[in-house]
Parts: sequence; C-alpha cells; structure tokens
Amino acid sequence: MAEQVDARDLKEKWFGLTLLFSGRFFIMEKRDAEGMMVESLNMDFTKKVVINTEQLEWTTSPSPDVFKKPLEMEQQEAGHVTFIEKYEPGARLTSHSHPKGEEIFVLEGTFSDEFGEYPSGTYLRNPPGSSHAPFSKDGCVLFVKHNQFLEGDSTKVVLDTNYAAWVPGFGKLKVLSLHLYEGKHTALVYWPEGATFQPHAHHGGEEILVLNGTFQDEHNNYPKGTWIRSHHLSQHNPFSKGGCLILVKIGHLI
Ligand SMILES: [Fe+2]
Ligand SMILES: [Fe+2]
Repeated sequence: MAEQVDARDLKEKWFGLTLLFSGRFFIMEKRDAEGMMVESLNMDFTKKVVINTEQLEWTTSPSPDVFKKPLEMEQQEAGHVTFIEKYEPGARLTSHSHPKGEEIFVLEGTFSDEFGEYPSGTYLRNPPGSSHAPFSKDGCVLFVKHNQFLEGDSTKVVLDTNYAAWVPGFGKLKVLSLHLYEGKHTALVYWPEGATFQPHAHHGGEEILVLNGTFQDEHNNYPKGTWIRSHHLSQHNPFSKGGCLILVKIGHLI
C-alpha cells in the first residue's frame, strides 16, 4: 500500500506505537574497507526498539563539552545517526556541513549558531549541503537526526513551536505539523488527560520521542524521554491517562 498523506489520513494514522519487543540495543560489529572495526547501533529497521533515554549514560564526543546518547547509528560520527546531545554552557563546535541533512528538536535550553538563537521547543531542518558553527551560551539538550533527508528535500525549516498554530486531531488530540515530504511526516501531538486513539498499523513505521508526560499503549507505558521506533506494519492501540506531548515521525522506516 502506498503511503498517502492528507488531512483525513493523518487523523487516522497519528499516533501510537507498538511495543512488540524490546527496549534493547542491537549492536553489530562491522569492518570498513581497511579492516577497521566500526560500530552499528540499532540499524535493523525491522526490529522494534524502545529506549528510556533518561536512563542512558552520556558518552563523550570529539568536543570536550558536548556529550551524546546514541540511539541508532550507522557508524561512529557518520552516516545515519540519531542521538540526544548535550551542550555544556559555553560549548562551541567548529563549522561543519551536513552532507545529507540535519534535523533538530531543542529539548532544553537555547541552541545557537551564526544564523540565530533557537530556544527549547524549536524545530530545525538544515538541508543537505548546509553548514554552520553551533554553540550554546547557557547550555542545551537536543534531539538530533543526521543524514536522513530524502533526495530533493532541500527546505530549511526554523519553527519555534511555542508560537505555532495547532489543529484538531483525532478525538481530543491536537496536532502541530512540522514537516512533510513525499509521505514522510513529522509532527508534535498533544494528548490531553484521558485521550485515546484507535488501533492502527504503521505503514512505513513510526518513531516517537516522548517530550512530556507518559504515552501508553496496550503493551507498556512510555514516560518522558522514551524513544520508540516501531517497524513497518507494526500495530498498537495508544492512549494517555495522564496526558503527554510526543514528537512523531511516520513513513520513513522502509
Ligand atoms: Fe502509532
Ligand atoms: Fe550541525
């Protein structure tokens, strides 16, 4: 079935996730052309992954005052990578480019580069070929996805979601669309207390980061900071007793 995205379809598709298995890391050893070992983390998109990122330890990065929590990665610091990133106050990176794009949601603090300041709640897309020298005066925490843009997706996006217009979604849900390109959609979804959805399947998969509250389905509870990657055609019936806010991507896992 081809991915269709229109307003009616979105109401039907948003949001949930499936917990079929896991919460485990899948780490595989690989070797490059020179025989050097490189690590791959959670790159089998047919597997369900659930990670409570608040329980992960920070790992070091090439910059002494920037730390990461890797969630999925093709190679260390290269290829398809998704991670939580922390800039200590005053942290500054050298200018770098984004060969296949960079997508950021600012979780805490204020992120900056030579083009502007991006407070908590800002959604950024730096398209392939763009470059910048980021820093954070007072520190920040980010959700970052590298090298995952589709060919031809060249739109730069800077959206402070604190001031954006939400629209009604299914039932009591509210939806703030962030980006749509060839059926791959990213949005914020607000679940008020007691909100429910209907059973549904994820054509092209579904990726969620719980920003606030606790997201739930028939399989488990997912508190703030939980990252869920549900594979193509996975299913579930989500709800939230106490309410929650989630960042959702759909259709990108095939
Ligand atoms: Fe879902
Ligand atoms: Fe960057």
